[in-house]
Amino acid sequence: MRCANAFSPMLAAMTVPGRLAGRRTLVLGGGGAGIGRGICERFAGEGAVLAVADVDHGRAEATAEAIRRSGGAVIAISADVRDAQALDDMITRSADDLGGLDILITVIGGQVAFVPAVPLTEMADTDWDTMYELNLRYVARAVRRVLGIFTHQSGSGCIVSIGSVAGVMAAPHQAGYGVMKAGLLSLARTVAAEQAPYGTRMNVVVAGAISMAVANVDSSDEWVDEIPMGRLGSIADVANAALFLASDEAAYVTGQGLIVDGGVSVRGPFA
Ligand SMILES: NC(=O)c1ccc[n+]([C@@H]2O[C@H](COP(=O)([O-])OP(=O)(O)OC[C@H]3O[C@@H](n4cnc5c(N)ncnc54)[C@H](O)[C@@H]3O)[C@@H](O)[C@H]2O)c1
Repeated sequence: MRCANAFSPMLAAMTVPGRLAGRRTLVLGGGGAGIGRGICERFAGEGAVLAVADVDHGRAEATAEAIRRSGGAVIAISADVRDAQALDDMITRSADDLGGLDILITVIGGQVAFVPAVPLTEMADTDWDTMYELNLRYVARAVRRVLGIFTHQSGSGCIVSIGSVAGVMAAPHQAGYGVMKAGLLSLARTVAAEQAPYGTRMNVVVAGAISMAVANVDSSDEWVDEIPMGRLGSIADVANAALFLASDEAAYVTGQGLIVDGGVSVRGPFA
């Protein structure tokens, strides 16, 4: 595990006002140029104090540097979430450096970058293992750990995971991915039921096809014709949903999947 730019208490005092002002937030998978980074930048703009975590330290640091340039308070930290001890150490380090934790966001996940897209009959056992460890196992471990931190602090906190419509619809050639994303929704319901008395909430942003270009929509994409709204989702669409679920505006919302898919999941065959 590597950690750079240990948090300065002075930065906390510089926190900008907003819907998440001063909320200490750990984003697992906040590097890169995709959804994770978009969430970090959106949350920082609303005053969150951030720990940006990623397996690739350079990516975590790039996100952190962009936030610092905008006046945000942030540390960058790196570890592989597949390693239980490294994950645990990273969460502990984030809580220590931020002075506690209020929000956990889990972004790491996916399929195509990790296993081949093949029919169920051709899936190898190792593909199932990979999908489990990158989409669900680390989330369950991280949730367990932060619930302990929330309890030790004020007793409440908030968790948002990034899911996929593959977890609520059939997922041809994505069976392992779909099952694990469905598992996230089950995990959120269980956390909601067990933690509601303590004020802790967990929800999932159920994302459709999202354009990875920060500049937004790539209308030439072959999937666009299948999307009722006629465009891919943007990183901002996902980040805005995560922001709502993490904010006090969603104070009475827990155990839910908020579908952000431009209407894909509700279009029947007669549309
Ligand atoms: N891209 C889409 O169209 C789409 C659609 C629906 C859901 N999603 C979900 O959104 C989430 C983000 O996807 P994305 O493609 O935007 O990713 P992203 O670009 O936000 O990157 C995620 C980060 O996770 C990091 N990472 C990967 N493996 C790691 C590990 N073992 N330990 C620590 N960090 C690790 C990567 O380095 C990367 O920086 C995923 O959960 C994915 O399933 C994406």
